[in-house]
Amino acid sequence: MDIVLVLYLLGLAAVLFAAYFFFASFVIGAGYQPTPPAVAQRMVEFAQVGPADHVVDLGAGTGALVFLSARQGARVTGVEAEPLRFLLLRFRRATSPDRDRVEILRENMFDFPLQDATVVLMFLWPGAMTKLKPKLEQELVPGARVVSYWHPVPGWTPAKEDPKHRVYYYVSKGAGGTATGDVSQSAS
Ligand SMILES: C[S@@+](CC[C@H](N)C(=O)[O-])C[C@H]1O[C@@H](n2cnc3c(N)ncnc32)[C@H](O)[C@@H]1O
Repeated sequence: MDIVLVLYLLGLAAVLFAAYFFFASFVIGAGYQPTPPAVAQRMVEFAQVGPADHVVDLGAGTGALVFLSARQGARVTGVEAEPLRFLLLRFRRATSPDRDRVEILRENMFDFPLQDATVVLMFLWPGAMTKLKPKLEQELVPGARVVSYWHPVPGWTPAKEDPKHRVYYYVSKGAGGTATGDVSQSAS
């Protein structure tokens, strides 16, 4: 086969793979982009993640937030629907010194129960945030912390924010199963 044709086909395959990897999951809630390390650090600091916590990363990607949270001693659940990233997460878990505290689930984040979470981390698209908002309000226990990167939770007032890193921090008052769950503005 002509070398030019081979190179062309390889290039096309690479472009198609990249398009799938970064953008295909957009249709189920959000495309893929990892949280930068400095931002991930800020999110974990804002939430004061520690050994008493159960951290849930909704849309865990390749694990930027999962494994940093686990480093702080927390129990962590990474929920990821896209199969390749799920496999990568499982591999990272298997090789992590914190693997006993990390659970990786291939699930739709909109179906994952949040009643047991003390911290919810998110880096998602605005449409997904809007869709998740009533779920967060109904399911989170009082005092649960929510930290979002890039997009704020629509209609909530952050207890803290870092405009430079676009990190938004909230503390749930807990809705107790009602749809009225609002978020403290006074926590620091
Ligand atoms: C912007 S990335 C963030 C990844 C990771 N949380 C981080 O901060 O590095 C969003 C991730 O959410 C995943 N995702 C999108 N919709 C989802 C859904 N409905 N259920 C589970 N995961 C989803 C995507 O596959 C993607 O990996």
